[in-house]
Amino acid sequence: MEVLIFPDAQSLARKSADLVESQIKTFPDSVIGLATGSTPLGLYEELIRRYNEHDLSFAGVKTFNLDEYVGIPANHPQSYRTFMDDNLFSKINIESSNTQVPDGMAGNPLDVGPAYEKMIEKAGGIDLQVLGVGTDGHIGFNEPTSSLGSITRVKTLTKQTIEDNSRFFKPDEFQPKLAITMGIKTILDARRILLLAHGENKAEAVKDMVEGPLSAMCPASALQLHQRTTILIDEPAASKLSLKGYYKFVGEMQDDLVRKHRPSDWISR
Ligand code: F6R
Repeated sequence: MEVLIFPDAQSLARKSADLVESQIKTFPDSVIGLATGSTPLGLYEELIRRYNEHDLSFAGVKTFNLDEYVGIPANHPQSYRTFMDDNLFSKINIESSNTQVPDGMAGNPLDVGPAYEKMIEKAGGIDLQVLGVGTDGHIGFNEPTSSLGSITRVKTLTKQTIEDNSRFFKPDEFQPKLAITMGIKTILDARRILLLAHGENKAEAVKDMVEGPLSAMCPASALQLHQRTTILIDEPAASKLSLKGYYKFVGEMQDDLVRKHRPSDWISR
């Protein structure tokens, strides 16, 4: 697990966009796993800027989103499909048919997971997965005690996640308590993972993820098992890490090594 610490959320967004951009420029048909929420917004803004100002093309890219609420239609303002359309897909040159978000309105939500797994497999697997982390350590909607071997399925959200996300729903509006999410195994199967976190409210989850024991109580700690995960965090999110100085030192050493020997070392495939 590589931990990169940035002075602020803007520099973190730029670095994560550098990594996604290199992936896509090296493999224009890359399969990218995407997250919603406030965390990746800076990354998406950067990608849109690079699409407009540079020659970054998404024409061959396929995407799979991590999760979707059960029980609200795709065109609902709070659906993750709407979030992705509004914050990324409608602003870049990606084919809508190349973007997948689990179907939260399927007649039988239990059928969605296995079908989603098959679609990912048919696309050749995920090259690069972008993640955020919940304050309770969830990734996707894999809440604490999720099986570390889980695949895409329906999950019940915790009270904490429902509360964290209630800010997006009006007080009298139906707020979903169930979601369809890629599983932890689905995530770990990605060839390369970037987890982004900023803000002090993520510091505890970041500590548990990076330095805590591998435990289903902190689903993000499963990333310790992945060979090519980079954690990109800002100073406030890094504030509870006990080996913070070491991660910075590793970053400097790796920078030198990679610059010298393998400038494209991080790219998957
Ligand atoms: C959303 C997702 C979630 C979020 C997490 C953090 O697709 O996968 O795991 O990444 O809830 O949310 P924010 O970024 O809003 O703090």
